[in-house]
Amino acid sequence: MTKTIAIIGGTGLTEPKQLRVLTAHDIQTPYGSTSAPILEGEMAGYRVLFLARHGHPHRIPPHQVNYRANIWALQKLYVTDIISINAVGSIAIDAMPTRAMVVPDQIIDYTWGRIHTYFQGDMEAVKHVDFSFPYTESLRELLLQAAHHAGKKVVNGAVYGITQGPRLETAAEITRMERDGCDIVGMTGMPEAALARELQINYASLGLVVNPAAGKSSSVITLKEIQAALDVGMTDVRDVIAQAVRL
Ligand code: HPA
Repeated sequence: MTKTIAIIGGTGLTEPKQLRVLTAHDIQTPYGSTSAPILEGEMAGYRVLFLARHGHPHRIPPHQVNYRANIWALQKLYVTDIISINAVGSIAIDAMPTRAMVVPDQIIDYTWGRIHTYFQGDMEAVKHVDFSFPYTESLRELLLQAAHHAGKKVVNGAVYGITQGPRLETAAEITRMERDGCDIVGMTGMPEAALARELQINYASLGLVVNPAAGKSSSVITLKEIQAALDVGMTDVRDVIAQAVRL
């Protein structure tokens, strides 16, 4: 099977500037509609697909994203590899300060109430997928190599804790997550990664740190500071993506 990459763009990346868009797919799935039409186009000579996780314009909060429809539709378009872009807060602030890019290698899922599996309802057999290593190692390696080619620093390995949102965390919740071993915190990593695994699609995440997590700096978290970090940091993310599709 030839490799086909899809980018799922998160907050700050709703438009794929480097993609020469050829078609927009409006796919109806057994699970409902995708967050936005899936754009198909060409980047550096390769077929690449793009989906804005929160819709375009950005309007769907993390707990209301139709993750099942999104991943199902990408598979329908023969996507083999998903690069997920996630804006995150930093718990391990020394190693991963604001604007750092991170390729996580582990997940702790704190979300609740999200529809998180394809294996429900009237099924012939219960299925339990292996999720020991939630990200596809070869795709993680590709992102690291892409960052290297782009001349960008990236942190290799982090535990990504995913919270329900849409509110940010309390300082005590972050302290607990730190005790649990989380390095970064965000709201969109799950159930997306697990659904990709259920459909056997390769999946890796490129996280951009946009703020110190709650209680990790002397001030409260403002949307203005997050926006400023997104504005600058997404340029780095775009540069890494541009290299990743070539590798
Ligand atoms: N917490 C949860 N999700 C986030 C954060 C945060 O601090 N920053 C960006 N997404």
